[in-house]
Amino acid sequence: MKRDLLTINNLAFEEIEDIFQRTILHKKALKEGNPIRSLTGKSLGLIFKKSSTRTRISFEVGMFQLGGHALILNFNEMHWNKCESIHDSGKVFSRYLDAIAIRTFEQKEIEDLAEHADIPVINALSDDHHPCQILTDIFTIREKFGNVGSLKVVYVGDGNNVAHSWMLGASKTGINLVVCTPENYGPNEKIIKMAEENLEAGENKPGSITINHDPMDAVREADVLYTDVWASMGQEDTADQRKKDFMPFQVNMDLLRASGKKPLVMHCLPAHRGEEITDEVIDGEQSIVFDQAENRLHVQKAILEFLIKG
Ligand code: CP
Ligand code: NVA
Repeated sequence: MKRDLLTINNLAFEEIEDIFQRTILHKKALKEGNPIRSLTGKSLGLIFKKSSTRTRISFEVGMFQLGGHALILNFNEMHWNKCESIHDSGKVFSRYLDAIAIRTFEQKEIEDLAEHADIPVINALSDDHHPCQILTDIFTIREKFGNVGSLKVVYVGDGNNVAHSWMLGASKTGINLVVCTPENYGPNEKIIKMAEENLEAGENKPGSITINHDPMDAVREADVLYTDVWASMGQEDTADQRKKDFMPFQVNMDLLRASGKKPLVMHCLPAHRGEEITDEVIDGEQSIVFDQAENRLHVQKAILEFLIKG
């Protein structure tokens, strides 16, 4: 049966671990100048209804290095949504391609495509989830610390797609995650429930999910501080209000010091410097944001291989 990656919950804990093990091999092989060509002759379709730098490049370059091919399907140039149904488009994609990755607004659109396509569908970001990003983030933390169990990761900012996938990822891998948002910008209740159910199912040694609204308190003893933009793609018209509401949640040197430790700093990028994160922090010695960005490539390759080859 084909597998999709619509949310992190499509993967069992052992499968995440398998993806990480393959990532280590892909990264090493590439650094040695001998990339693993495990997807020779395979094709990936890419659809972006929102902007992308890292996701697009890592999918395209990743497929090339794997011996396959990726093609951008410009949404405005396709029949889909104009005169062809998602059902028919999904069926047709499946006759040409080996997988399809899509970035769009509504999670439901990705779920509908997955229902009709006979090939793996990958969520390349929706308003609700960003699973490929958070797999990379957990891989990067694992790489830096050796393991992830019992680490404290504090996400400071908006309760958005990235925060949601973080909650699912942490609840599967044993991380103690604190999500610290302004009162009216907390994560979606349904996704909080999904994460709680993961914790109850106890696939791995238990982590925890805590929601907090006080950044100075939340960051105490943090091993990792993570942030993301205050206004996500599609929310630009609320950006001015958000700047006011989120300023106390800025990741700056005072917040780093409040941790009482020397936390590593992460950001999925793109960053709005001077808003959710200061130059001093993102360019500082505790920042691992560009290692994190690089790892998108290595993890993406392991995800593609897992979904396409099984
Ligand atoms: N982090 C991330 O998904 O970046 P892009 O929007 O550039 O793909
Ligand atoms: N939350 C951000 C993530 C970008 C990678 C957005 O959706 O715009």
